[in-house]
Amino acid sequence: MTFADTILRWYDANGRDLPWRGTRDPYRIWLSEVILQQTRIAQGRDYWLRFVERWPTVHDLACADEDEVLRMWQGLGYYSRARNLLHAAQQIEQQGAFPDTLEGLRALKGVGDYTAAAIASMAFGIDVAVVDGNVYRVLARHYGIDTPINTTQGKRLFTELAQSLLPAGHAAAFNQGMMDFGALQCTPQSPHCDACPLADSCDALNTHRVDELPVKFKATQVRQRHMQYVYIRYMGQTAIHRRPEGDIWQGLYEPLLIEDEPLPQLAGRWTLLRQGVKHVLTHRILLADFWLLEADERSQLPPDYFWVAEADLDRYAVPRLVEKLLATLPISET
Ligand code: ADE
Repeated sequence: MTFADTILRWYDANGRDLPWRGTRDPYRIWLSEVILQQTRIAQGRDYWLRFVERWPTVHDLACADEDEVLRMWQGLGYYSRARNLLHAAQQIEQQGAFPDTLEGLRALKGVGDYTAAAIASMAFGIDVAVVDGNVYRVLARHYGIDTPINTTQGKRLFTELAQSLLPAGHAAAFNQGMMDFGALQCTPQSPHCDACPLADSCDALNTHRVDELPVKFKATQVRQRHMQYVYIRYMGQTAIHRRPEGDIWQGLYEPLLIEDEPLPQLAGRWTLLRQGVKHVLTHRILLADFWLLEADERSQLPPDYFWVAEADLDRYAVPRLVEKLLATLPISET
């Protein structure tokens, strides 16, 4: 049995009984999809029932008072959705008929790829796959795909895969079957793999990656890092070390670095040469202070630091930031 056949059969036996599933009225389907974009089915159901009772057709909604629409929407949040709904109803009213193509649907205010595909397939029987969070999860697991779902590449890959699996002439059942399968069977946490009709062919299950898929790219938060560099000068020599693995600038050299700690109590004349120098990396913002310590004695160094002649410093590769700081050093008097 193909993947699609399994989904269709599962949906036939387990699909949810939802009030908008009995209709092919694009207005009612559209309304349900907009409501369900931010609301659980149990709650969205009541809103949907009240809406279609108050405004049974798109014409009725187009004539509605915005304040009343917003009042009916109260509790659902994201009020721009309600305003878009009213605006789109007026668009449809002007056009004279509910658009029945993907392009026509996409042109409605607030209707994106997902909603257009949902209405096209469920109301007009167009063979177009919908891709929502449930669909991403089911496909990522079953086909063992670790491409992040929230990237352009991921969106394209999963959309094409869903489209290639869609059985011609069964778009409405396949799409809703996929969504219900994701919501009820292949759930985000604790999916019911022991009683899954797709278990045998599920890549994630067979490779023990069910908990790891789908992958979502986390925008690494830009963290700030405060670095205090101390350039020690003693008898024409200075102390540097090589940066370790597992951090930025691996293998480059730098003067004594103090991070998240007080400055060491080393004897000599301290001069703050630069303060709060900003240096931007991809996932970090560095703020650097640059001290000159003209040491009274050959200071005790932390492990891994060593002395080099200042004149030889240019033999060592240093990060751009350190290069900028070194350029501010006064010439040595010794
Ligand atoms: N979530 C949003 N729309 C849905 C639909 N038509 N069927 C199942 N789940 C959904």
